[in-house]
This record gives sequence, structure tokens and C-alpha cells, in this order.
Amino acid sequence: MKTYVVGNWKMHFDINQSSVYLHKICRRLTARRGVAVAVAPSFMALQPLALQMARHQHQGIYLCAQNVATKDEGAYTGEVSAQQLRGVVQYCIVGHSERRHIFGETNKDVRAKVAQCRKNRITPILCVGETAGERDFGETRDVLRDQVLSGVSEVAKDEIDKIIIAYEPVWAISSTGEAQLASPDEVAKNVRFIRDLLEQTYGEEAKSTPILYGGSVNATNAGGYLTVPGVNGLLIGGASLILDEFCDIVEVAKRVSK
Ligand code: PGA
Repeated sequence: MKTYVVGNWKMHFDINQSSVYLHKICRRLTARRGVAVAVAPSFMALQPLALQMARHQHQGIYLCAQNVATKDEGAYTGEVSAQQLRGVVQYCIVGHSERRHIFGETNKDVRAKVAQCRKNRITPILCVGETAGERDFGETRDVLRDQVLSGVSEVAKDEIDKIIIAYEPVWAISSTGEAQLASPDEVAKNVRFIRDLLEQTYGEEAKSTPILYGGSVNATNAGGYLTVPGVNGLLIGGASLILDEFCDIVEVAKRVSK
């Protein structure tokens, strides 16, 4: 399986800054067989960056959306559909904890978004993870079970390897202010739990579903997380905005994936 390195730029960088930053990343990254690198700029920058990549033939760097609508089309002011994203992005983050907790996305919304992505040949990166409170109350497994099984419930068995799961404990995400670092043991345990859930539901096919880790990943700890058994890549927020950090993480991924 490939190793994934996905940078979520969140609501940072305007179009010009995104373009310059992508250019710098492309210049820095050398051949990286076995590693898939994706960046998720704002909706505004997706189309210009797609054109930029096509023009410069930046192979092996993919574009990812940060969100998508639950519906095909219609009177949904401010939404962007998977139909509209089709052909522009290869990946789409779905159900990020900021969407769930700040914008009130429910498991039902997340399920519809995953289905929209699949229908339009976009690989959803389904984010799941417990909050600090849920962890303290021993509810981590219940939360993961709900979020994972509900999120993938409209995915056909032969498509389960065409979605990506990102395990991101909310208490480990840097922007939450009081982020703690998740220990590799805890990540291993929860990633194993997610893999078992998928295999119980989908059988052998789920062995090929990539599972990423996210939460305060940087160039220093990336190797530790990438060598956790069952982790197939990283979803990176804050550190993906810093050229050296992001490119160093890709280098680590290259070494680990060998
Ligand atoms: P972080 O964000 O790497 O800044 O913790 C991860 C994420 O929100 O996906």
C-alpha cells in the first residue's frame, strides 16, 4: 500500500499564496515512489492550482478539497458539490472534526458526503476521532464505531478500498489550543479497532483501505506515527503550512515506505 501525506491548509493562504506555496513544494520534492502527496487548499484555490499542476506536469501531487456538499445540485447557497469538484480534485476531506464540531455536521451528513464523493470518483478521506471528554468517559470505541460505520454505510463492498479513513483524536489537533500528543500505543490501538470494524463489516477487501493518522504531526514525530502498525499515512494541519516541515515529512514517508 502507498504511504499518504496529506496537507490540510484549512482557511489559510489566498490564491496567490497558495500558488506560490505549491510551486515551492513541487520544486523541493524529488521522486517519491510509494508516497502519495496531496494538498488541500481552500475552494477558491482549487481550480487555479489544478491548472498550475497540469501546466507544470507536477506528477504525484494531488489536490484535495476540504469539504463537499451532501447534494448533487440545487438551491443550496454557499455549497460546492462533488459534481463541481469532479475532475478538479482527486481527494476530499469529509467529516473533519472542525466541520463536525464548529459547523454541526452529523454522521448523516458525513455519510451523504462520502457517497457523493464516490459517485463522482473522488476519494473521500473520512475523518473520525473522539473528543477529550469522550476519551475521558471511556467512549472512544463507541464514537469511532458510530463515525466509521455510519460514514461508510453507503459504500459498496468492492469500493471500500477506494475510501481513506483518517483517525484524528480531536484532543490531539494542534489548533484546539490544548492539544496533547497521542502516544503511538494509543494510535495503534485505535487504528487496529477501526481496521477490525471495517474487516468485520466488509471482509478481506477492507485490508486495503488506507488508514491515516492526524493530530499535531510534524517533521519530528512523523516517523514515530508512520511506523505505528496499521498506519498508512498522515493528515497534517499546522505543519503542512510550513515548507520545510511538510517537505521533511514527505522525506520521512519516503524512507518509511521503502
Ligand atoms: P494539526 O491538524 O496537524 O494542526 O493538528 C490536523 C487536522 O486538523 O487535520
